[in-house]
Amino acid sequence: MSEAETIITLENVYKIFGPNPRGRAFDLCSSGVGKDEVQRQTGHVVGMKDISFEVKKGEIFVVMGLSGSGKSTAIRTVNKLHEVTHGRVIVEGTDVQQLRGAALQSFRREKLAMVFQHFALFPHRNIIDNTAYGLKVQGVDKPKRQAAAIEALAMVGLEAYAFNSTRELSGGMQQRVGLARALCSNPDILLMDEAFSALDPLIRRQMQDELMAIQDKVHKTILFITHDLNEALRMGSRICILRDGLVIQIGTPEEILTEPADGYVAEFVQDVDQGRVIDVGKVMHDAVILDPTSTLTQCVDALGDRRGGFVVDADNRPTGMLSLTDAATALAHGTTDLGSVLRSDFDTTTPGARFNENYAAAGRGQPIAVVDESGRLIGELEPREIMEEMGRVEQLVDGFEREVFL
Ligand SMILES: Nc1ncnc2c1ncn2[C@@H]1O[C@H](COP(=O)(O)OP(=O)(O)OP(=O)(O)O)[C@@H](O)[C@H]1O
Ligand SMILES: [Mg+2]
Repeated sequence: MSEAETIITLENVYKIFGPNPRGRAFDLCSSGVGKDEVQRQTGHVVGMKDISFEVKKGEIFVVMGLSGSGKSTAIRTVNKLHEVTHGRVIVEGTDVQQLRGAALQSFRREKLAMVFQHFALFPHRNIIDNTAYGLKVQGVDKPKRQAAAIEALAMVGLEAYAFNSTRELSGGMQQRVGLARALCSNPDILLMDEAFSALDPLIRRQMQDELMAIQDKVHKTILFITHDLNEALRMGSRICILRDGLVIQIGTPEEILTEPADGYVAEFVQDVDQGRVIDVGKVMHDAVILDPTSTLTQCVDALGDRRGGFVVDADNRPTGMLSLTDAATALAHGTTDLGSVLRSDFDTTTPGARFNENYAAAGRGQPIAVVDESGRLIGELEPREIMEEMGRVEQLVDGFEREVFL
């Protein structure tokens, strides 16, 4: 698979707030002095320090961090709501900081759309006009922009409300209109700053699901900001974690959870079920395939250090599972016949499945067959391996915790 095209690049971006951002505050900050100390010495606030990341076409790139870590500042450099102090911001080959006047305006209108936490609707306009507002500003004629607005409202499930007043909308519906407005002008890029953070948990999850379903159809490039790790893990293709204006880690949800870069990240991840992001494929082993004509003793030898093996049919589909514990019990009772000890009620999973989908199977204590989409045996996973991998991650996180608190 070829590497996806880069749509947004931040290159060593600094943003310092204050009357003289490029003066001593910048010198201190760039020579490694921390945010609090820079503020103490100069009265300037470090918003972003040497931030670099790339957002690839079609991905949901999540920027996550505590309040004040620089998330909003970072997203605002992308549409030049902020001028950067140092560094470059490139969007689809355009050096955004160089844009001015009409060029900046048309860049903002055509290339990207923004959705905020509190989406402001015009109370005196109905929903379709609110949705089509961006196109109106662009001078698109009424039939065209209304058609686009209906299409966008349909994507968020609100087409039936197109001609209703905005006063009748719940918070969740308002955010939907916000999303529809953003989608309406068909931009390449969506910038979403805590777009779902004000919603209650159930509605919030619905909106996350809906955005992901929409994304599967429209393939936008989405820069998504949240302070919520669970949201980041659900939505993110990759996640960038900020602290005090610094990038602490960039990685896939799995990398963030299983290889946290430091104690700050570990603190975020400690309450999350790592099993949600660890793939079976990462931990599975080759399966031992047993010869159905061999004796039980020969089968036990063939298992080696594995706790189970499989008998397969002509298409390599598993038809029976021998577990080491069953074999040992049978041998102790003098049974030597493989057929009588084989189980047909074994669990199966796929390499793309997550650990947490296999907890129930793991709880039964038996080896699990890993099969491909045609049901062919491609590996085996054992409950102890699920526990070991989870334990490894936990120890890592515990280690960081000690580091943080000592
Ligand atoms: N216009 C501004 N003037 C001065 N300081 C600012 C300005 N905007 C942001 N800051 C400071 O920059 C830092 C980063 O702020 P930013 O708004 O980017 O944080 P955030 O991660 O979005 O936080 P939140 O989760 O609260 O939205 C903070 O210390 C903030 O006080
Ligand atoms: Mg913010």
